[in-house]
Amino acid sequence: MRVEALPVVQGNHNLRDYEETYKHFSWKETEKEFTWSETGLVNMAYEAIDRHAATFRKNKVALYYRDASRNEKYTFKEMKELSNKAGNVLKTYGDVEKGDRVFIFMPRSPELYFAVLGAIKLGAIVGPLFEAFMEGAVRDRMQDSEAKVLVTTPELLERVPVNELPALKHIFLVGKNIDENGTYFDFLKRLDEASKELRIEWVEKTEGLILHYTSGSTGKPKGVLHVHNAMLQHYQTAKWVLNLKEDDVYWCTADPGWVTGTSYGIFGPWLTGTSNVIMGGRFSPQNWYKMIEDFGVTVWYSAPTSFRMLMGAGDELVKQYDLSSLRHVLSVGEPLNPEVVKWGSKVFNKRIHDNWWMTETGAQLISNYPCMPIKPGSMGKPIPGVVAAIVDDQGNELPPYRMGNLAIKKGWPSMMHTIWNNPQKYESYFMPGDWYVSGDSAYKDEDGYFWFQGRVDDVIMTSGERVGPFEVESKLVEHPAVAEAGVIGKPDPVRGEIIKAFIALRDGYKQSDELKEEIRQFVKLGLAAHAAPREIEFREKLPKTRSGKIMRRVLKAWELDLPTGDLSTMED
Ligand code: WT7
Repeated sequence: MRVEALPVVQGNHNLRDYEETYKHFSWKETEKEFTWSETGLVNMAYEAIDRHAATFRKNKVALYYRDASRNEKYTFKEMKELSNKAGNVLKTYGDVEKGDRVFIFMPRSPELYFAVLGAIKLGAIVGPLFEAFMEGAVRDRMQDSEAKVLVTTPELLERVPVNELPALKHIFLVGKNIDENGTYFDFLKRLDEASKELRIEWVEKTEGLILHYTSGSTGKPKGVLHVHNAMLQHYQTAKWVLNLKEDDVYWCTADPGWVTGTSYGIFGPWLTGTSNVIMGGRFSPQNWYKMIEDFGVTVWYSAPTSFRMLMGAGDELVKQYDLSSLRHVLSVGEPLNPEVVKWGSKVFNKRIHDNWWMTETGAQLISNYPCMPIKPGSMGKPIPGVVAAIVDDQGNELPPYRMGNLAIKKGWPSMMHTIWNNPQKYESYFMPGDWYVSGDSAYKDEDGYFWFQGRVDDVIMTSGERVGPFEVESKLVEHPAVAEAGVIGKPDPVRGEIIKAFIALRDGYKQSDELKEEIRQFVKLGLAAHAAPREIEFREKLPKTRSGKIMRRVLKAWELDLPTGDLSTMED
């Protein structure tokens, strides 16, 4: 298979020179950038913030924050003090100690970032939750990780099933007129009173930093644990791939509920001492362009689904804004269509640089870095210090142009440390030959560029978010009308994929559009808006294996008019 939709775009340097320079690169070199080379101990929040507050960057803006009602900026010195204060609040009233899970469930705001950094300074493990999560999603994650402390808002507290979370001891509320009563603390009031001095908890580099829950094709979402050691790769890729330099103004559009919003919305930019722009509130093409114009954003990291929505808003709109500050534009999360790269070149006069990684990998692994010629449609090449290959199901490397499993040789610094409560699951990612197997299929061309072909499992990527079909199916069958459900991703020009559910009703229920809408709302309110099926189709029966497993592959084949493949395991 070979796709070469657009001509190669030349980079501004010579890729060969670059590869020559890094031929013998070792992550040991990056270690020298941080204090642990002297002490053996580290703390991510210290390296990201405090370190700069002691240098010429002290009064440099670390955070620009804007939403509909706030427009604020904080220097590295202020970020140090405010995260120290947050650490003191969490420690004094939340009794937070090293290794405790501290969950943060709130919309983006400066306080979210103070809380995350403060918790990390105490050696706690942060569990960020996307603000759109509903009760079921919150419960699964906080139960599995036995969260001890929660920082949230009065509005979102309604979605926290406090009585079903026995491990949860302390709750901090961020908002106005908080009624403190021994269980709930007023985070802002306590922050205000707290001391600016904090004793940082120095930790081993393999100690827990952050827990991101992500979906697979089976079971509940799994807790991917990352450790402080990831900083090596966050820092190095922020330099190589994001190409951050001293005067940059950087904007990552991802929410910290997802891994892109922490690895590259918090750690990468601040480890390199970069001014970081955060926008609160919702997406709109006008707001987004205005952010770039008003803050003079130079480096912009977003996702294909957003670029496609911007493209859909039209070229005339782009012309109403001054986007000339942009120097480097990047994309991650799903395949970046060659048309989008072409559009980006036209309207921003910038090539959009695709890169590939996953929640589990913690940081970018395959990328189009600035110096290389882009082949539109390709994810790029492995970064220095990373070995990637296409392997068959036994772990044998395949030659160029053969499609197979995209696999990475174990040993990159930001690799997940474990799956929380589920070491067997962690082991299941590996294959003989020390290969980490991604679950993506791809091929490699003769220049070593990787081309994404699809997921090998049933995981759905909708608007850049990973949704496990099993989780949606489980929610669907909780609805009284639903006997069985099978969920697939259906290709969609804007969202990448949409969620489509096939449903067999229980006896006594009649098919109707109202029922479809009711079921959709049920998932939306019980799980998350982005997990609710956009399409529902009722069926008498669903295709199943003899052992009773729903055959999503068959549903997908029917939906897309593709060959169904081997049906020997299907029940009659
Ligand atoms: C899955 C991981 C970490 C980034 C945010 C998503 C898909 C990611 C690309 C890309 C094609 C991509 C893969 C991967 N994906 N980047 N450049 N081209 N597909 O993290 O939620 O853990 O999802 O996203 O299928 O396995 P995630």
